[in-house]
Amino acid sequence: MSNIIVVGAQWGDEGKGKVIDILAKDFSYIVRYQGGNNAGHTVVIGDEKFILHLIPSGILHRKKICVIGNGVVIDPNALIAEIAKLESEGIEVKGRLFISENAHLIFPYHKVIDELKEMKKGKTKIGTTKKGIGPCYADKVSRSGIRIIDLLSDSVFSEKLKTNIEEKNKILKILYDFKGFSFDRIYKEYIEFRGKIKNFVCDTTLLLNKAIEKRKSILFEGAQGTMLDVDYGTYPFVTSSSATAGGACTGTGVGPTKIGKVLGVVKAYTTRVGEGPFPTEFTKDMMHKIRVKGREFGATTGRPRRCGWFDACLVRYSIIVNGISEIVVTKLDVLDDLEKIKICVAYKYKGKTYEHFTSDIDMLGNSEPVYEEVKGWREDTSGVTAFRKLPKNAKEYLKRIQKLLKTKIILISVGSERRQTIRVE
Ligand code: GDP
Ligand code: IMO
Ligand code: MG
Repeated sequence: MSNIIVVGAQWGDEGKGKVIDILAKDFSYIVRYQGGNNAGHTVVIGDEKFILHLIPSGILHRKKICVIGNGVVIDPNALIAEIAKLESEGIEVKGRLFISENAHLIFPYHKVIDELKEMKKGKTKIGTTKKGIGPCYADKVSRSGIRIIDLLSDSVFSEKLKTNIEEKNKILKILYDFKGFSFDRIYKEYIEFRGKIKNFVCDTTLLLNKAIEKRKSILFEGAQGTMLDVDYGTYPFVTSSSATAGGACTGTGVGPTKIGKVLGVVKAYTTRVGEGPFPTEFTKDMMHKIRVKGREFGATTGRPRRCGWFDACLVRYSIIVNGISEIVVTKLDVLDDLEKIKICVAYKYKGKTYEHFTSDIDMLGNSEPVYEEVKGWREDTSGVTAFRKLPKNAKEYLKRIQKLLKTKIILISVGSERRQTIRVE
């Protein structure tokens, strides 16, 4: 079966955007299924760099259809700006982008709640992107959210928005002494947004299932990563959606029997943005070196990413919870200058050694990684296009990872551009 899910197997920013761009030419549809504009997926084509937040990265392939599924939360302001930016760069979006009528909308009060909640938490904050993602999903689950389909009806929208604003204003006043929002202003603003997005909206579940009937192929573009998944990640230091492969089904209405493969994207080392445990995190000097060489700054918020060694225990866990069948390793070139490279193969906690990842974040935060050390290659890999041409020690590193993960590496990325990609035969 030809439909594939691409999922981040660490804490996001694994290079999913580049991988989607490489694979997209072989698919008819590219579909986002969860998250929102907290995501930042980078695609580099020649001298041009595109950062996609809500629109699937496949949009850069001119003949492909892109879908934003029901599991995504949409800030219409961000969506309209992204469409306008793409069109200003000569990329036609009309007729190629379809948005689920069941997707929930992010409102200004979601963003303010996100920000104030984080501020109030102080040291215990999550380090969110402040895009209103958590509060929007909270409304969805508590059944008070507003979907695009609700926005399409004046009376339904007006009633739901009134109830929500009344409730949010009370909460904002009591908890944060915040002055509150005006119904009229938001109503007017969102009716304007409606005019700009309504032509993209449809029943995308029907669209995708009809496409499958016609044997069209679908590429599901995961956002964030397994460790940020609300169920399987380092809770509460996670996002609020199902970033794992299961989210592709619930976030689009395509059943699991229609999906053939799950491709896991892993960086050759590890990064995370925001707070929370990170057992293999580098100390100061290595952090700086890899951050600079890997340009590890957030594509959405510009924040510096925390960096660390490759954690095989963590990725093994990702392989299990996603059912990952094959792996793509990205950013191998970032390790080019190192004399020695470490791989975390177990954790030590209170004198005992564990090989499995744990959801107990206290345990994880206080675990000592057990490392295996391999020799670096100290050669430039950024121009290599065949596996056999990689330096011997780089091949050894990849083979060791493959063995530890018991999963085949099918693609290796050695730079942000399309041509900097190695297909493993
Ligand atoms: P995503 O969120 O998973 O799509 O990843 P991001 O786009 O947020 O971050 C990945 C960054 O690494 C982007 O700046 C990419 O252009 C860049 N990148 C992707 N693959 C490679 C690679 O193999 N080597 C290097 N040096 N950079 C890469
Ligand atoms: P892509 O798709 C990396 C992180 C935030 C924070 C936590 C919760 O580009 O890989 P949220 O705003 O979602 O409530 O923040 O999740 N986070 C990401 N980290 N890549 C992302 O997306 C992320 N999206 C959210 O930094 O720690
Ligand atoms: Mg990113």
